[in-house]
Amino acid sequence: MAEIIDSSFENLFKCADFLHSGGLVAFPTETVYGLGASLWHENALNTIFIAKSRPKTDPLIVHIQKKEDAKNLVILTQKEQTYFDILAKKFWPGPLTIVLKAEKHVPKIVMSGGNYVGVRVPAHPIAQKLLAFTNAPIAAPSANKFGHVSPTTAQHVFDDLSTVSELLIINDDTKCDIGIESTVIKIQDETIQILRLGAISEESIKAELRMSNMEAVLIEQKKYLKNEHDIEKREEKQNVSRETFLEDAPGQNLTHYSPWIETYVIYDSKNGAPSLFPILHKQKISDAELKNIAIVDFGKKYFQYKNLSKIYYDLSEDSDYKTAARNLFNIMREIENKQDVEKILIANLYSESPFSKAIFDRIYRAASGKFIEF
Ligand code: TXA
Ligand code: MG
Repeated sequence: MAEIIDSSFENLFKCADFLHSGGLVAFPTETVYGLGASLWHENALNTIFIAKSRPKTDPLIVHIQKKEDAKNLVILTQKEQTYFDILAKKFWPGPLTIVLKAEKHVPKIVMSGGNYVGVRVPAHPIAQKLLAFTNAPIAAPSANKFGHVSPTTAQHVFDDLSTVSELLIINDDTKCDIGIESTVIKIQDETIQILRLGAISEESIKAELRMSNMEAVLIEQKKYLKNEHDIEKREEKQNVSRETFLEDAPGQNLTHYSPWIETYVIYDSKNGAPSLFPILHKQKISDAELKNIAIVDFGKKYFQYKNLSKIYYDLSEDSDYKTAARNLFNIMREIENKQDVEKILIANLYSESPFSKAIFDRIYRAASGKFIEF
């Protein structure tokens, strides 16, 4: 049975020992909670996949305490080193994961069998302390069941993973300030590719490189794979094995970050659906159906439906994206715990603001690309 503990010094020391002996520790970061194991404990790494019911094709992020700790994990060309130095210096500690060519001794299991490892220096003081006390890299995916909403409190972790033995969950009152997962980029040769949107935008990465007179080619983010069938089709077309294909594009499942309740994006003719987020299904909803529905609004756009729906939330009444990101997963999980909610409808907050795109990415995936129209 998992155990929630407070974040006292003694407990953090205990957690460090526990990691060294092969236990799992769930810890807060500034993005979401991570489910950590020592990088040097192969059995514990394996347990992470079992605990989350996560396929081995989805690699784990390796958390390190400081930029210099990456030296022992990655091997870079001169150009890659230059890009890495610029971006790590600017954005670490912080919500940026950088995927880089790995040294031979990095366990294959954290790279899904490939040769590239994702590394990140988290900014959260508890994550920092835990890494310092452990004095080893900590591999950690988000501490939720695979495909479910990422956790932003110790209780969220417990709700998903209570039956996992050998798991300590560090409780912390300061919360996960950002609330959505890190931006993931891959530096390879001359290119930088965005693998997952997050609080650090493509624009700010470009700006930082420009300031250093570096012109990296930023490849567009890949389109979502709709389902298993699409993966098969793409496999056929590219004539590569599933393993090779997934290695190149892990964690690209359309359905991700999903509440257990059927979720939809509210169709908004003004916002439409940008090309990265195609409408895969659209249906109408009647006023009568609204009474068993949860509405998750943004900027009071659908306030008039408050009394018609079962529950009404607003991600941010004054349309602030930072607040919306911080609230999103929390609200999704709160709704899951309510009785008799049949559907969740979330406002389409997509705009030109880079952060809105990262938040919408989570909303779109929670809804598996399904939209609903009033
Ligand atoms: O904010 C975060 O990134 C949180 C906290 C705990 O650090 N972690 C997190 O991990 O969200 P996870 O496992 O839920 O998502 C990690 C994603 C993978 O699904 C994959 O898309 C990408 O990061 N990733 C990690 N390692 C990679 C690698 N070697 N190659 C390509 N993509 C990788
Ligand atoms: Mg995750």
